[in-house]
Amino acid sequence: MHVALTFRPALDSELDWCAQLMAANDPWLTYKCSVQWSMNVLKWPGSSLFIADAGKPVGFILLHPRGFLGSPYIAAVVVTKEFRGAGIGSGMLTFAEGIFAGSRHAFLCVSSFNPRALALYQRHGYVKVGDLPNFIADGYSEFLLCKRLR
Ligand SMILES: CC(C)(COP(=O)(O)OP(=O)(O)OC[C@H]1O[C@@H](n2cnc3c(N)ncnc32)[C@H](O)[C@@H]1OP(=O)(O)O)[C@@H](O)C(=O)NCCC(=O)NCCS
Repeated sequence: MHVALTFRPALDSELDWCAQLMAANDPWLTYKCSVQWSMNVLKWPGSSLFIADAGKPVGFILLHPRGFLGSPYIAAVVVTKEFRGAGIGSGMLTFAEGIFAGSRHAFLCVSSFNPRALALYQRHGYVKVGDLPNFIADGYSEFLLCKRLR
């Protein structure tokens, strides 16, 4: 599938769409995160929310320039089911690196039950630097990943 894609800041009116998308997809689905909880995450002070737009919103990425130990943090990335596997997730990671240009590192977390997302991040150069067992729910880990940007 070829998709002509742009990345742009989310409109306030798109916050609800993003929160619904988040709550309806793993890992947030497994963790039983509500739409309201997702909305609060998306409003994290200091963060920026960007939409992947293919003529309509097809995903989003939430970035915080000082979100982890004062370093850039990718807090959430989601692509709608019908548009997955078309390079949009990968494009959003590259976009994030542009936003974070000048920083030494970028961080993100991925759940232990999300091996395909982990594989995507590893292909992009992210390395597992931590394991937080039972961090959000018993039986699952959150893996902390880091990429050296410069
Ligand atoms: C992870 C995600 C953002 C990737 O977006 P994408 O646009 O499908 O990614 P790309 O097309 O650039 O790359 C595809 C790769 O993404 C990964 N991937 C993870 N979950 C996937 C899914 N459900 N469908 C397709 N690819 C997925 C795989 O590594 C895949 O490569 P593969 O086909 O060789 O396994 C997307 O699958 C998604 O929104 N998943 C649900 C939310 C989520 O898990 N977010 C990450 C939380 S840390």
